[in-house]
Amino acid sequence: MNTSRRNFITHSGALGALAPSFTASVAPLLNAAQSPGPDPGAASREQRMRWWHEAKFGMFIHWGLYSVIGQHEWALEVEGVPIPQYEILAKHFTPKPDAARDWARLAKRAGQKYMVMTTKHHEGFCMFETKLSDYCAPKQAPGRDLVREFVEAARAEGLRVGFYYSLMDWHHPDGARCANDEAARKRFVTYTHGLIRELMTNYGKIDILWYDVHWPLTPEQWESEAMNKMVFELQPEIIVNNRNGLPGDFSTPEQHIQAADPGRAWETCMTLNDSWGYQRSDDSWKTPKTIVRNLATCAEGGGNYLLNIGPKPDGSVPEESVRVLETVGEWLDRNGRSIYGSERGNLRGGTFSQYTKRGNTLYVHVYYWPGHTPAAEWLSFFRPATVVAIGALQAKVKSARLLKTGAAVTFEQSATSLRLTGLPADPPDGPITVIEVECDSEPVMNHESIRPEWPRYSVGIKT
Ligand code: GLC
Repeated sequence: MNTSRRNFITHSGALGALAPSFTASVAPLLNAAQSPGPDPGAASREQRMRWWHEAKFGMFIHWGLYSVIGQHEWALEVEGVPIPQYEILAKHFTPKPDAARDWARLAKRAGQKYMVMTTKHHEGFCMFETKLSDYCAPKQAPGRDLVREFVEAARAEGLRVGFYYSLMDWHHPDGARCANDEAARKRFVTYTHGLIRELMTNYGKIDILWYDVHWPLTPEQWESEAMNKMVFELQPEIIVNNRNGLPGDFSTPEQHIQAADPGRAWETCMTLNDSWGYQRSDDSWKTPKTIVRNLATCAEGGGNYLLNIGPKPDGSVPEESVRVLETVGEWLDRNGRSIYGSERGNLRGGTFSQYTKRGNTLYVHVYYWPGHTPAAEWLSFFRPATVVAIGALQAKVKSARLLKTGAAVTFEQSATSLRLTGLPADPPDGPITVIEVECDSEPVMNHESIRPEWPRYSVGIKT
């Protein structure tokens, strides 16, 4: 296997922390691992995934030895740190008690319904008690099982529990040579399946297993089918992602939003700045407005949004992350009905708004509020006052209201356009205002159907 770790990740679409890109499109997903093979969870998938589809918003947590140096979780690889040097970090990782309680409370305030924590990242350090290695939190400076604390904290807040687990392991002596040495492969696969077995056995019911990076082996070499089979035997209700090289239950676009093909579940994972693990000088914080728009874009395409925090070495959450998450949570308190439990439709955002739906209800998320336009006579069609106009809606509207206050919104509807009228000049909510529109059937948009019939009045073309 000649593929380098970085190339492997770039080509498998799993990199993003180092080269973030964001395209707010809802196009078919191309980067899912789609190797064919038995699908042990297929029969129960719909039932297992119901809560997850409803939940829409989760917290990702990247925390490990890399947090101690605060230079991103790839520091070991990209800075070429010798392993014995890196191991010293395990002697200086001394988190405060119950750090996870604060994450869980924050997730709850942010309106997130599940949490996924790094139990072992590429650095190979196990944040949990294991019989298979001494390179684990209880036997090093922390002196405690940090995964257990996380599980208990999430449950205390009524949140679902997910484990991130990196197959790629830079620390284990067989982690790279397993690609070319069959005896090493067997040892390393036994080790890996053994750690996953412990995670799936020792913490009660686990809701998500979030594999990452299967470099340098193929799914066959990882024995990924046997891996998933064991996981489902130990945790029949669990859902698994696609990063052990099998399709699993959902796809995982990283640092960008891209819907999977209809019928396929997907979740965008994204950082709040540019880094997953704590990176002390990364100040590229996304705004609450960007996060709310991303969440709505995911919901519009039927996907979930897994948003990351990178706690500091003591476990505390960077202040900027707290500030953004709390603002998002306050918005969700007022507008959660437009996100949780929403369903994928054919609605496409325009230039000032995007759309989610549930049943016959359409939610118009206005992120650029139109406001009053100067009252020139010739502009009167567009903005007689403040109007939010939506083209090509096929369903007949029965009523509309501001989601924040419930105040009724008046409207006019023609064959081409729904015009929500009588709105205030200033946006009634922030960072995005949502208008709830009840229709007599499923809200569907079809711009194609109205183009030929477009009212043209007299357009000054001489025949
Ligand atoms: C990539 C990165 C990793 C991060 C993950 C999150 O695989 O290597 O650092 O944990 O993406 O999706």
